Parts: sequence; structure tokens; C-alpha cells
Amino acid sequence: MRVTRIVEMLEVTEAAALAAGRWMGRGDKHAADEAAVEAMRLALNSLDISGEIVIGEGERDEAPMLYIGEKVGAGGEEIDIAVDPLEGTNLTAYGQSNSLAVLAFGPKGTLLNAPDTYMMKVATGPVAAGAIHVDAPPAENVRGVAKALDRPVGDIVVCILDRDRHADLIAEVREAGARIRLISDGDVFGAVATAIEGTGIHLYLGIGAAPEGVLAAAAMRCIGGQFMGRFKFRNDEERARAERMAKCDIDGVLDMDCLVATDEAAFIATGVTDGEMLRGVKYFGKGSRTHSVAMDASTGTVRFIETVYKTGAEPFWVRKD
Ligand code: FBP
Repeated sequence: MRVTRIVEMLEVTEAAALAAGRWMGRGDKHAADEAAVEAMRLALNSLDISGEIVIGEGERDEAPMLYIGEKVGAGGEEIDIAVDPLEGTNLTAYGQSNSLAVLAFGPKGTLLNAPDTYMMKVATGPVAAGAIHVDAPPAENVRGVAKALDRPVGDIVVCILDRDRHADLIAEVREAGARIRLISDGDVFGAVATAIEGTGIHLYLGIGAAPEGVLAAAAMRCIGGQFMGRFKFRNDEERARAERMAKCDIDGVLDMDCLVATDEAAFIATGVTDGEMLRGVKYFGKGSRTHSVAMDASTGTVRFIETVYKTGAEPFWVRKD
């Protein structure tokens, strides 16, 4: 049953968030990440699936757990799984907003096996889908989204990662008259937020990590928004890795059909720290509380789910320390 699978997977991101949340503000991003990875792997391995990690913590020689190609699950339906157990390690380590535990899945062979390189990304929600293009000048994308949302350009907020490489992009968006939400990390949130009413973000632009691009694209596939990318290789080694791994044209536009080639994708995220889209993990005497979003492309359903784990009755992957 589809809903059962979604709820099972929801427990996986909840597990990672509950583990990572313990490290909020403690200044140790590696410990936070390790905790999330370990919990997510334990939870995944308890499921009746034959899963393959297609987006994970890195290649086998650099990541001991949830590496690309790792098989997870106790046996069952064959699926591709893209994970980012802790998206925004610094955000968690310094108690900043919008860090998430994230996962997407789809039938075997449907999620792009994106290497650890950069990707130029553009994303917007369902209403403005079709009004953006990864090769269009920023001003054109901004105007397209403003027109689709039937509002002046000055009412549009563009989310951009605060990086030196974006100096020209930021200048061009300002010149176009839109407002900007600069984020220090976490562009899965930045892209997905464009499709969630109330976040105040309408367009995502900029260069970020490629694996996170596939996760964001999965969410957009579920919710009917648009995501488009282009690999930005830093060296020949990254290009060679992409040639080895990716199934579509690595020099072309990475559209939704290339990134997430299925109408049966699902995307799930649980908040680690508080943010505009999800609340972070809360721990209290008698238990803990998580807040998640679960999207299902096959039905177009978007569920916001709050879960309370009672102390003493938690699944085995919730550490009691
Ligand atoms: P973490 O891997 O520390 O969680 O950082 C995630 C992230 O901010 C992504 O959201 C983003 O795509 C990428 O890093 C940006 O990379 P860089 O810091 O190299 O610009």
C-alpha cells in the first residue's frame, strides 16, 4: 500500500531528524551529520524494501554509510532512494533555521544518479511552472514568475545561496526589482519553499550541490512545480564521474524527466531546526515531537504531519540519551 510505504519512509526522516536535533547549536556539524546518517540507515534497513541509494553521503570509498550504490532494506519492492540525512549541517550545528532530514524514492532506475558536483538550479511552484528556464537571464525568470503570479516584480522574493559566486546573480535580481532571501545553506529548502504557500519565497536561483538538486526536483515532481538544472563541473574528474553515473546528457538541460523519471516519486522531509516550512524537533520530558512534509507524485498529495514519540515507546532507532 502506497500510504503505508509513505508512512514507513516518514519514520526514516523522523529518525534522522530526532538524532540530528540533539546536536542543535553544539557547534559540531560532523557529529550532527553522523547521528542523522546512522539513524536513517538503521530505520531504512528495518523496512521490507530492496532499496538502492542513488543519492547519498558520497561514493563508497569516502562514505562508510549510505554511500551511492549501497543496498538498504530487509528485502522487498525494488526502489531507488535519494537521501540527505542532514541537509544543512552548519544550520544545525549553529542552531539556524531550515535544516532538514530529507529523502526521496521512486521505482528502480528512475532517480538520477547525480555525482557530487555543482548544479545551476532554477525552481518555482506550480502556478509559475513553465515560466522559468535554467538558461534564461535572472531578470527574465523573475518577470515570468511575477506575471504568472499576477503581481508586480517587487512582490517577488527570490531565494539565493549567499556565496561569492552569486555576486552577479544577486546584482541582476536586484536590478530586476525583486527582493532576495539570502540563505547561508540548505537549498533543498530554498527550492521546495517556492511551492509551499506561506514561506514567502517564489523563485529559487543559483548554483548548489547537484545531489540536493535531485531531491528538490523530486519534491517539485510531486507538487507540480518546476525544477531545471545544469551541471557545473569544477574539474575533469567531476565530469568523468558524471559520465559514469548519469543517464542523461550531462552537458544538456537537466529537466524533470531526466532528474526524476517517474510519476511515482515521493519526497519526505522532517524539520531539524525551526523554519518557514517546517518546525524543528522538540524534546520534552515525556517524549519528542517532529514536523514533516510528505509528498506523493502518484496522487499529488501533500501531507504535513506532526508526530509525537512517547518516551519509552520509541522505535529502536531513537536513542534514549
Ligand atoms: P551540508 O552538506 O553541510 O548540509 O550543506 C548543504 C548545502 O548548503 C546545500 O544545501 C547546497 O546545495 C550546498 O551545501 C552548497 O554548497 P557550497 O557550500 O559548496 O556552496
